[in-house]
Amino acid sequence: MNQNMLITGGAGFIGSNFIRYIQEQAPEVNIVNLDLLTYAGSQENLRDLPHPEKHILVEADVSDQPLIEGLLHEHNIDTIVHFAAESHVDRSLKGPGAFVQTNIVGTFSLLEAARKVWLQEKRLGKDQLRFHHISTDEVYGSLDPGDPAFEETTPYAPTSPYAASKASSDHLVRAYAHSFGLPITISNCSNNYGPYQFPEKLIPLMILNALTGKPLPIYGDGMQIRDWLYVEDHCAAIYAILNNGKIGESYNIGGGNQPPNIEIVTTICEILDVEDALTQFRPHSQLIEYVTDRPGHDRRYAMNIDKINRDLGWAPSVNLKEGLEKTVRWYLDHIDWLNAIIKEKSYQNWVDINYQGRGTS
Ligand code: NAD
Ligand code: TYD
Repeated sequence: MNQNMLITGGAGFIGSNFIRYIQEQAPEVNIVNLDLLTYAGSQENLRDLPHPEKHILVEADVSDQPLIEGLLHEHNIDTIVHFAAESHVDRSLKGPGAFVQTNIVGTFSLLEAARKVWLQEKRLGKDQLRFHHISTDEVYGSLDPGDPAFEETTPYAPTSPYAASKASSDHLVRAYAHSFGLPITISNCSNNYGPYQFPEKLIPLMILNALTGKPLPIYGDGMQIRDWLYVEDHCAAIYAILNNGKIGESYNIGGGNQPPNIEIVTTICEILDVEDALTQFRPHSQLIEYVTDRPGHDRRYAMNIDKINRDLGWAPSVNLKEGLEKTVRWYLDHIDWLNAIIKEKSYQNWVDINYQGRGTS
């Protein structure tokens, strides 16, 4: 493991979990966390770091190339782990511009900074350097029921502006490896869930709405399938790639075959019926409401994880039921964290934009 790491988007869901994970595994690593603190990022996500003295937060835009060059110099950065992104498909349908700016232009700026400081100035040997790009399974498009799971060689076929912007950033990262020799790795991961996930994504939204007696909005028929992975398992996979991944390679990461959305939501309701037993909203499943589908909604994702399993020995360790139980308990223990978000006007605005007038199906 190298010593000086620039993590972008480290105040968001997966980034903050990853910083905690790295500090547990490799407390000697110095972490510079570049994050714009958009609606999705918060210093609250970084309150319980095991080694706060080894972490600094720089509130800045990943598109700010001169600033990033300065950070690479000042902190002698040898490893970049790039999480920063606009990450929510529904928001990309309402406003794709931010996705093009952050996910494509932002990644380009980071690559340019690395090319200049790392490759042109040759401050460190190439064998000491790593640019790891965090991507998604959504770049591969949607599967039909009998289709085999996505492999690293599956052609890209993104369908949403979010997925297209991530696919574009993956292509740029590969081009910088091929054209300039930037030492890169890429990971494409499936849907994560766990502590600190912003309550706009399916699982935390359902937990929040169930706790507050609000409808649980299931898009379409609720039979869409995601390949859910507990966030700590994702962190362990990234760590394995940083330590032993082969330069230039992509690795698929996923949790295995998983049930459709409606089953995820009914399981959350069952867990809450036990964990929040005294509430007036029990049984929570009475809150389920089928609503008009997301436009262009991808039907199914599934990841073939043979490569990372075979080459790096990684496999998921938390099964879905156990992961959902841990997640529900985390949210119950962090009601203040949730309350701070739902108090924000921007959160309520988003709920209105996405759900008001959607209609039941
Ligand atoms: P998130 O939305 O919770 O966090 C994104 C973080 O990036 C936030 O802290 C935000 O403030 C920051 N950010 C946004 N725009 C920025 C900018 N212009 N400059 C600097 N920082 C900026 O996202 P997440 O769920 O933690 O996802 C992290 C990464 O993992 C993303 O690249 C996403 O595409 C990828 N990914 C996510 C999932 C998932 O299920 N959440 C699955 C696979 C891959
Ligand atoms: P989401 O968490 O937004 O992740 P992604 O779109 O990147 O997969 O959604 C997960 C699944 O849950 C997806 O099939 C859409 C569905 N969904 C709902 O049915 N209702 C909701 O309110 C949300 C946010 C998502």
